[in-house]
Amino acid sequence: MIVRRYRPDDALALAEVFHHAVHVTAARDYGPSQLDAWSSAPLPDRFADREADGRIVWVAEDAARVVGFIELEPNGHIDCFYCHPRGAGTALYDALEAGARGMEQLFVDASKTARPFFERRGFEVIEAQNVDRGGVTLMNFRMEKRQAPPAPRR
Ligand SMILES: CC(C)(COP(=O)(O)OP(=O)(O)OC[C@H]1O[C@@H](n2cnc3c(N)ncnc32)[C@H](O)[C@@H]1OP(=O)(O)O)[C@@H](O)C(=O)NCCC(=O)NCCS
Repeated sequence: MIVRRYRPDDALALAEVFHHAVHVTAARDYGPSQLDAWSSAPLPDRFADREADGRIVWVAEDAARVVGFIELEPNGHIDCFYCHPRGAGTALYDALEAGARGMEQLFVDASKTARPFFERRGFEVIEAQNVDRGGVTLMNFRMEKRQAPPAPRR
């Protein structure tokens, strides 16, 4: 497996990973109407030109197939983080954390499914949140991790 930066021709693969990760892995924590509100279908347009707003997207590939991705916004917010099939999450997160060196803190709105993953990597729950998606409520958790300060310059 390799982790590399996003390319514009990843849009369809990212949309498919997103949709399947929601409907397979998150299905143990959310009901059918919540999963449909979260992802009704793979939507490649959503992932077109994905780094245009300054975010960095790392993509995991296994045998030339995209199996996951993670996104870091300029303010330290981890946005989309999805793997399908499972197995690439740790490598993706490690790439993000290395890329975020020098940022004071990382934060994420973690699904119930992803909460233990982030807890094991030093994030703390700040609050539970109810998010409205098209009239359907999904619960997630604002979580934060303070980063080591940058080494002083000599
Ligand atoms: C959260 C997510 C991105 C993590 O990716 P992943 O590929 O499962 O991550 P990893 O393979 O590194 O595994 C994470 C943990 O689950 C375990 N795991 C991996 N594959 C597994 C499987 N098939 N079944 C059960 N546990 C598994 C790993 O051992 C690991 O344990 P650790 O944290 O103690 O090391 C992924 O599970 C996912 O897409 N979830 C659904 C969508 C979602 O909720 N996204 C987050 C939005 S904030």
